Amino acid sequence: MTRDVAVVQHDTLHPDGEYSRTAKWFHWLTVPALGVLLVSGSIIRFIADDPKMAFYTVHESLGLLVFVLALARLVWRLRTTPPPMAAAISATERAVAHAVHTALYVLLLVQPLLGFFTTNAYGFPQRGPTAFLGVIDLPQFMDAAPDLARSLHWAHSIVGWALAALIVAHLAGVLHRHIVHRDGTLLRML
Ligand code: HEM
Ligand code: HEM
Repeated sequence: MTRDVAVVQHDTLHPDGEYSRTAKWFHWLTVPALGVLLVSGSIIRFIADDPKMAFYTVHESLGLLVFVLALARLVWRLRTTPPPMAAAISATERAVAHAVHTALYVLLLVQPLLGFFTTNAYGFPQRGPTAFLGVIDLPQFMDAAPDLARSLHWAHSIVGWALAALIVAHLAGVLHRHIVHRDGTLLRML
């Protein structure tokens, strides 16, 4: 679809200046999933025992789906070229945007792994009532190890906050380009 935004940059791979359909699918499937994960992870400890297991199943299954999605997205991204950024974006702002994107990719892979090994170390892996998607038992790599579990849980918590901070920075950057500079940055991903 060609947009009526004169400032969007084009190249031969992206005649409309936009991210490909595949890139958009990867991007917009991840966004609501991360919203559910950050909220569900943060409130699980306040949930009563009865629906708690359902929360774990949703959180852990969705988290691993995000891992698979992020892995596929990264492999695909490394084999393709994104559309050019608006010409007026300074070298510094480009570097910051790239750094934020790279950090998001890394944390989208690290965070589910931390979560998975946290549950393993607690001795409550994704089996039985909290099996992956409710039905698929996943491997248990260790016996319960409370100290390790606490450390991994702490790391999962810190990386959760780091992800939230990166998302806020990413959103601020995109909205700044869209509202202040009106340069079509947001439209490339819609
Ligand atoms: C991108 C994926 C994920 C995100 C963004 C995420 C986010 C979070 C957050 C923000 C918390 C709250 C941390 C705290 O206690 O302060 C949390 C807790 C937790 N997460 Fe995840 N998580 C993800 C994936 C996973 C996966 C794949 C698993 C397990 C297979 C998992 C297992 C857990 C567990 C066991 C807790 C502790 C809940 C509790 O009892 O309080 N997470 N998660
Ligand atoms: C969970 C939250 C989000 C994550 C993890 C995320 C992740 C990413 C990543 C990794 C890229 C780089 C794509 C690439 O070149 O490989 C990207 C680009 C982009 N995202 Fe997001 N995003 C999130 C939320 C949003 C939201 C809410 C918006 C819009 C309001 C948005 C708009 C964009 C736009 C316009 C681009 C292209 C910008 C550019 O090339 O600098 N993102 N996003």
